[in-house]
Amino acid sequence: MFARQHLICMTVFAAVLVFACRADAQEANYDEAKVPKYALPDPLVCLDGTKVTDAATWSQKRRSEILRLFEEHVYGRSPGRPEQMTFMTTSLSRNALAGKATRKEVTVFFNESRQDPNMTILVYLPNERSGPAPLFVGLNFGGNHTIHADPAITITRSWTRDADSNHKATEAGRGKAASRWPVERILERGYGLATIYYGDIDPDFDDGFKNGIHPLFYKPGQTQPGPDEWGSIGAWAWGLSRAMDYFETDPDIDQKHVAVMGHSRLGKTSLWAGASDERFAIVISNNSGCGGAALSRREFGETVKRINTVFPHWFCDNFTRYNDNVNACPVDQHMLIALMAPRPVYVASAEEDRWADPRGEFLAAQGADPVYRLLGKEGLPADEMPQVSRPVMGMIAYHIRPGKHDVTDYDWERYMDFADKHFKAVK
Ligand code: GCU
Repeated sequence: MFARQHLICMTVFAAVLVFACRADAQEANYDEAKVPKYALPDPLVCLDGTKVTDAATWSQKRRSEILRLFEEHVYGRSPGRPEQMTFMTTSLSRNALAGKATRKEVTVFFNESRQDPNMTILVYLPNERSGPAPLFVGLNFGGNHTIHADPAITITRSWTRDADSNHKATEAGRGKAASRWPVERILERGYGLATIYYGDIDPDFDDGFKNGIHPLFYKPGQTQPGPDEWGSIGAWAWGLSRAMDYFETDPDIDQKHVAVMGHSRLGKTSLWAGASDERFAIVISNNSGCGGAALSRREFGETVKRINTVFPHWFCDNFTRYNDNVNACPVDQHMLIALMAPRPVYVASAEEDRWADPRGEFLAAQGADPVYRLLGKEGLPADEMPQVSRPVMGMIAYHIRPGKHDVTDYDWERYMDFADKHFKAVK
């Protein structure tokens, strides 16, 4: 009886939620004429009102000020590298993908007892190379085994979204996301690829931060992160930094040339990882949208209120203060992109992905340009938003391609062109 009532309650709740989301999505603004008037905070004006006019003041004062603001108001503060962390290579083949690649799986244990949670990094490196390989690293949505049909990839044991198999990944998922990960092509162009299932770090649902990595860091008596402490995006980005810790120990990897790439919520994550960890030499945001590359103040497509309501675990609780007053937030997302300076950063949109506000993504990239120029770099060489399929590449790059919210071969080819340009990789 209780179970039945419970089921009815859950069904009603789910129906209300779906309805609320649909209603809200329908109400989303897609009309450029209805974008509210807004003024962006100046990345080059300090909190005390002084204007930054030299590189030293940027790097010694204003950059850390902006980073702290993003920690406090948007993504939350994250801990550093755990002292007890260890790496264990659990599989290694120097003859993977018909001899083209070296494949490794490396498990990262975050504490001495080597219990869950831990994360597994899957690495492919080109065998045809003259030294350590430059690398792309990105989190994946479904488990490492989804990125390629290679039967040797270990199926994740972590919670997955797949409700049919009771949230346990199965063989059926192998290679399912392969269209988003052109592994052979990446190897052919001289790069390695590393990926981690984001659910190894923190399962992507709102459970009050009981599972995943957060509890490992609670102070005695603490049961969930404080209002200015890391949510799930913070945790995923933290996981990328732990992967970087591993890359620094692997002589096959060129640790000075690691590009972090992510799509959608994982694009928000790659931006935050690149902002908070300057070891990432290139930062790439693919269709990251609200809370990623898109300007929040435009309220075009997804809004801060909508994202905080539907995904309450992604950001820190302080971010909800701006649900109804986004203009009061001391930062906007152009300042996140500016935190990459002077490193190369790529922002990519898709024409049909209006939910992620392509123009807002372009404008944020453009809004970071003055910081690059102050540092003597090119910034974004475009006064206007470029046409579809006309990438622009300075230290900041931007493209909009035809099609929907996704990662395509076109996107990857441009990211590799960009990496060639900045890493001068062996091809
Ligand atoms: C939803 C969400 C976006 C997010 C996307 C994704 O659409 O509203 O903010 O980027 O999911 O991660 O796929």
